[in-house]
Amino acid sequence: MLPIVDKPLIQYAVEEAIAAGATKLVFVTGATKRAIADHFDADPELERALQVAGKEKLLQSIQGIVPKGVACIYIRQGEPLGLGHAVLCAKPAIGDEPFFVHLADDLIAGDPPCLRQMADEHDRHGGSVIATEHVPKSDTSSYGIVAVDEDDNNRIHQMVEKPAPEDAPSDLAVVGRYLLNPRVFDKLETIERGAGGEIQLTDAIAELLPEEAVYAYSFSGTRYDCGSKLGYLEACVDFGLNHPETGEAFRKHLKGMDL
Ligand code: G1P
Repeated sequence: MLPIVDKPLIQYAVEEAIAAGATKLVFVTGATKRAIADHFDADPELERALQVAGKEKLLQSIQGIVPKGVACIYIRQGEPLGLGHAVLCAKPAIGDEPFFVHLADDLIAGDPPCLRQMADEHDRHGGSVIATEHVPKSDTSSYGIVAVDEDDNNRIHQMVEKPAPEDAPSDLAVVGRYLLNPRVFDKLETIERGAGGEIQLTDAIAELLPEEAVYAYSFSGTRYDCGSKLGYLEACVDFGLNHPETGEAFRKHLKGMDL
């Protein structure tokens, strides 16, 4: 629910998913995360009050949070057993079709939005698609790291969760966007706990690699790791500078600072 300028991160995630054609949004949350469901609920009382007060612009902004025709499903992950486990919790709501996984703390500014780019990539050659970017070798232990076959559309042939730099197969890191075929659920159901004692999505995908094509996709855009203090601050500054209401005055403010 951390806001970037005027919207919480989870809303950026929802808007990106809808722009990529998603019509069913499955939120997997932990205990105490009720604010997320509350945020996307309609609020008829507030809507009436804004209407009476003639606050049209505000009224439209809250009515547009989840467009008509898009369903929201909320699932609780009973125990924090890892990203792979969180994705497995969504299985009953997903069924037998390709699906996106969006980790909302990775905010990506892209045009078209990152998930849209990935859906287009999927249309080109099928298979699962994972967004990646190069990271400093010293940072590999914070990411899933892949090795790809560049002559085959960057098909992934190795994938390791959070390897030490000396064990990393490359410097190509997974970021928080995946377009996955549902067979990954079979793997998630059987894998053992991995790095950090958690059920890792990376390990399930790694088991799929010999059986199905999974491609690494270098998205166009800028990623902000809003799970880190610096990434969050960078996102606030860049989005503030690009925002139609705040951009000009904020730029002036920053220029006037004695840095
Ligand atoms: C998760 C994944 C990791 C991926 C990262 C991207 O890690 O397990 O493979 O590189 O997201 O943000 P987390 O950041 O949740 O530890």
